[in-house]
Amino acid sequence: MKMEMMNENGAKDLLEAQANVWKYTYNYVTGMSLRCALELGIPDIIASHDKPLTLSELVKALPIPVTKSPHIYRLMRILVHMGFFAVQKDVEDKECYTLTPSSKILLKTNKKGLSPLPQMATDPLIVTTCSRLSSWFLSSTDSTPFEIANGVDFWSYHRQHLDSGKLFNEAMAGDTKFVSDMVVKELQPMLEGSESLVDVGGGTGTMARAISNALPSIKCTVYDLTQVVSNMQETHNLEFVSGDMFHYVPSADVILLKWILHDWSDQECVKILKQCRDAISKKEKGGKVIIIDIVIDNKIGAHDHIETQLCLDMIMMVLFNGKERTEREWEKLFLDAGFTSYKITHTLGLRSFIEIFP
Ligand SMILES: C[S@@+](CC[C@H](N)C(=O)[O-])C[C@H]1O[C@@H](n2cnc3c(N)ncnc32)[C@H](O)[C@@H]1O
Repeated sequence: MKMEMMNENGAKDLLEAQANVWKYTYNYVTGMSLRCALELGIPDIIASHDKPLTLSELVKALPIPVTKSPHIYRLMRILVHMGFFAVQKDVEDKECYTLTPSSKILLKTNKKGLSPLPQMATDPLIVTTCSRLSSWFLSSTDSTPFEIANGVDFWSYHRQHLDSGKLFNEAMAGDTKFVSDMVVKELQPMLEGSESLVDVGGGTGTMARAISNALPSIKCTVYDLTQVVSNMQETHNLEFVSGDMFHYVPSADVILLKWILHDWSDQECVKILKQCRDAISKKEKGGKVIIIDIVIDNKIGAHDHIETQLCLDMIMMVLFNGKERTEREWEKLFLDAGFTSYKITHTLGLRSFIEIFP
């Protein structure tokens, strides 16, 4: 009897272990299903109808051959399970699909929509590069997995492949548009008394434009690589300057680094931060640097959020030789770059604000 119990428990544990292996082995399929739904335009098709859509109405609206129609419900079933769509009954008791908060923020018609990010992150360029990770570990090269797979670093690749560069910039701009109101609200007290701000690595200027609109007394500068900031529309308090943050950062009261430092190694971050410290120290008032990035903290993060942060950490390793950091790791960078104190505010979901002072 005792033996049987042990076997039962042993089998239960083994099957749990197998379920965990299967879960993570096939986890990429969830991202690919989301990619497929976005490519087929499913969220926008549902949104364009003024009532929830039955399966047959959805199939009719999709640009697919009739032979593929029977498979759509399977795609929808996994996406419902993942929380991207919900099912409800119509007056005739037929099941209908509706949008959920997660698919509403992916609508292409939503000006603050996030749809380019999943498309960029599940692009074969990124997925194929991830599949080379073990070859990178086994090789003695200093190159990143991205460089091994594609021959050049991430930024040079995007300079040479303008379509990829466009998709990447759209994904970044989409993320910034999505959080810009929340970021501006949180930044307002942090920017009190400041007259100038440089958004280093500010991409196509989405964040700086939102700040310059909300706070017209602040002169905003977007500082990024030439191929990103050339021919951008300027305003009375928004300008674009091209350059390399490793060599120079324009001076200002406040330097913003949104989603920048996680792309770089510790040594590279210290170089960037030293340039930022020089840029704010030229100002009489002293100034500060504001970082928007992940701070990994197992004590405050929900299990799912920590897992996403750790996935991003792996992506940073694959693409850039970068990393997501704990508070201790951040603190070391700040001290090494000559800053004396910092303040973390955890008010941006998976990311945090970190103010650092010289
Ligand atoms: C991850 S994106 C973040 C963009 C933007 N801050 C945002 O949050 O959407 C990193 C940005 O750093 C820029 N960048 C890369 N190397 C740079 C360098 N050496 N000097 C200035 N900007 C650089 C890239 O062109 C890109 O726009």
